[in-house]
Amino acid sequence: MGYLSTDKKKITTKTFAEMKQAGEKVTMLTAYDFTTAGIIDAAGIDSILIGDSASNVMAGNADTLPITVDQMIYHARSVARAVNHAMVVCDMPFGSYQISREEALRNACRMMKETGVDALKLEGGVEMIDTIKALIDAGIPVHGHLGLTPQSVNKFGGYGIRAKEEAEAEKLISDAIALDKAGCFAIVLEKVPAKIAAEVTRQVKAVTIGIGAGNGCDGQVLVYADAMGMTQGFKPKFLRHFAQVGAEITKGVQAYVDAVKTGDYPNIEESY
Ligand code: KIV
Repeated sequence: MGYLSTDKKKITTKTFAEMKQAGEKVTMLTAYDFTTAGIIDAAGIDSILIGDSASNVMAGNADTLPITVDQMIYHARSVARAVNHAMVVCDMPFGSYQISREEALRNACRMMKETGVDALKLEGGVEMIDTIKALIDAGIPVHGHLGLTPQSVNKFGGYGIRAKEEAEAEKLISDAIALDKAGCFAIVLEKVPAKIAAEVTRQVKAVTIGIGAGNGCDGQVLVYADAMGMTQGFKPKFLRHFAQVGAEITKGVQAYVDAVKTGDYPNIEESY
């Protein structure tokens, strides 16, 4: 079975805004390598995120903090090379934008120049507004990220649901409005009550992309390895497995081992 072919036009920030206006849901999955990104793009996804979740999924780290700008650039370049249709967004990793506006701008320009992605994503609310504005003023589309922001896992003390209490919910809504006013074209809302995410979605022009944030967002994102059933022992309430790729790989590897061990592979037709 080959890839699905797609003659769809490239998705841009303008397309995102049009989709929100038209009430069309925006789909996003992560990818970190050329081969997977090519399959996901050809299957018709609207947007691909080179998430700093590469730190967990690709490198096996316990959180997203260790991944570096150089490592994100490597992943992002590999993904961008594969994609024709989807909007490609890359995470700015922990430490690359928190120190100063100047350093954030320097890292952001480098990431744009060296990868070919379409936009950058960073975590945080009003405390990041000056940085977000500096990037947008430099011509870089910025995707915000509120609610559970995994780069702050140590501050939160875990990966629990955010904005359950009224004060935090109010802060999330005002952060989203600030990001929207600053010009973010989209905002991830991670692990927040569906009612709060729907309220944010109503109040902002930016496209809201939910993960564990209910059905009232403008779109949804999942880590592809989670959604495709490749990760072991991770099944939060919001996660649905849309395929069992892990089990398929296991079957394929077992068939390969069996064929080699029994001398069935390679056969005459598979030999020179
Ligand atoms: O890094 C990531 O994969 C993300 C998504 C889960 C939104 O930020």
